[in-house]
Amino acid sequence: MSHDATLQVADLDAGLIYRLFSGAIAPRPIAWVSTLSSEGHANLAPFSFFNVASVAPPILAFSPLLNGEGGTKDTVANLREVGECIVHIGGEVLAEALNTTSASLPRDGDEFEHAGLTKASLGDLRVPRISEAPIAFGCRLHDILTFGDQPLSGNLVLAEVTVIHADPKVWDGRHVGREALAPIGRMAGSDYIRCTDLFALERPK
Ligand SMILES: Cc1cc2nc3c(=O)[nH]c(=O)nc-3n(C[C@H](O)[C@H](O)[C@H](O)COP(=O)(O)O)c2cc1C
Repeated sequence: MSHDATLQVADLDAGLIYRLFSGAIAPRPIAWVSTLSSEGHANLAPFSFFNVASVAPPILAFSPLLNGEGGTKDTVANLREVGECIVHIGGEVLAEALNTTSASLPRDGDEFEHAGLTKASLGDLRVPRISEAPIAFGCRLHDILTFGDQPLSGNLVLAEVTVIHADPKVWDGRHVGREALAPIGRMAGSDYIRCTDLFALERPK
């Protein structure tokens, strides 16, 4: 079966664009984000629409979409209430736990407990850190850009990093050890990927 190579976005539904994005823009890093509601309920969720927005100042960007009913995910609701998050990077050993925290629990459900993870503190942030995660970027909310109110509309969270936890097992004070971290990425559907087949190219002068 052949498909026309030129697609007009106006003719495509959001589900198809989602599949094109998640298949073509891959592998993606995964932000494993903890937040807290104003009532004190902790929340955890992974987001692979994620990257660095700025280094100086240090700002991370990730995008929780509105869900299939056009509803706001807990992470965004909590960020609007408390204005803090912690973006963790979990390696392969934490993949199962990370995946478990993508469950849609009720607003007062705690994904730390659901996934058997331990809470720790980070600096003066109120949001709990995942003790098992080797890297944690503690952030204050900079801004949330919204793009509409339909299902799958993005909420681009810009979060300014104010404090960092870097486990010496993966961070020697200068570099992150790739083998020690064993980073994982997100592909389309239910697929994840390991970073075990690297090649290097020198940048041109
Ligand atoms: C590896 C992985 C990556 C994900 N990335 C995203 C994403 O970038 N944006 C999004 O809206 N949902 C993403 N999801 C789904 C959310 O994690 C899921 O909707 C979660 O329940 C949201 O949690 P919350 O309502 O507690 O914020 C991802 C799920 C997994 C397993």
